[in-house]
Amino acid sequence: MVKSIGKNKVFCAVFISGRGTNLKSIFKYSKKKSSKFDLKIVISNNSNVEGIKFAKKNKIRTKIVTYKNKKKAEKQILNYMHYYNIKIICLAGFMKILSKNFIKKFKYKIINIHPSLLPKYKGLNTHERAIKNNDKFSGCTVHYVNERLDSGKIILKQKVKIYKNDTPKILAKRILRAENRIYPIAINKVLFRI
Ligand code: GRF
Repeated sequence: MVKSIGKNKVFCAVFISGRGTNLKSIFKYSKKKSSKFDLKIVISNNSNVEGIKFAKKNKIRTKIVTYKNKKKAEKQILNYMHYYNIKIICLAGFMKILSKNFIKKFKYKIINIHPSLLPKYKGLNTHERAIKNNDKFSGCTVHYVNERLDSGKIILKQKVKIYKNDTPKILAKRILRAENRIYPIAINKVLFRI
């Protein structure tokens, strides 16, 4: 659990690699009175992506971290986290795996959104797998990040119906809307004021 003091909002970082629809919804929510967090910085390993364009347009601080050397990249990220007093890290389509060492430093302070109802369908191609198995529902899950892929404690889930003629693409779109809705709510849920 991350604590914030009094009326002050907790500083949050969002890590992305691409499109950034979850980033957008987190940013929008952060402007609400009920939000317990402020979006302080966006970290990306790619510079020329939609998410970064959105952040720049909205004057959110961005840092591009080149991942030629993972150790160096993580050190750089760690410095940003300390410098900007980041208390919670939200992975939103960040396509790099964080090292055990990094995760240890932010235990119970890194969360992720995954496009399936975990523990079902960890990893990639979640929609294809749900449709292939004739599942009636899929959905999305916000969870804490630990050393094992998509296996940390679950914070919030949203079920989404799968229809007969759904393709992975159609289902992905429906689930993405649910992701965008629940992610900021899940962030608020793990923060509490003292
Ligand atoms: C989402 O589907 C999320 O579940 C997965 O990566 C995608 C990111 O989408 N981890 P966006 O960049 O937030 O639009």
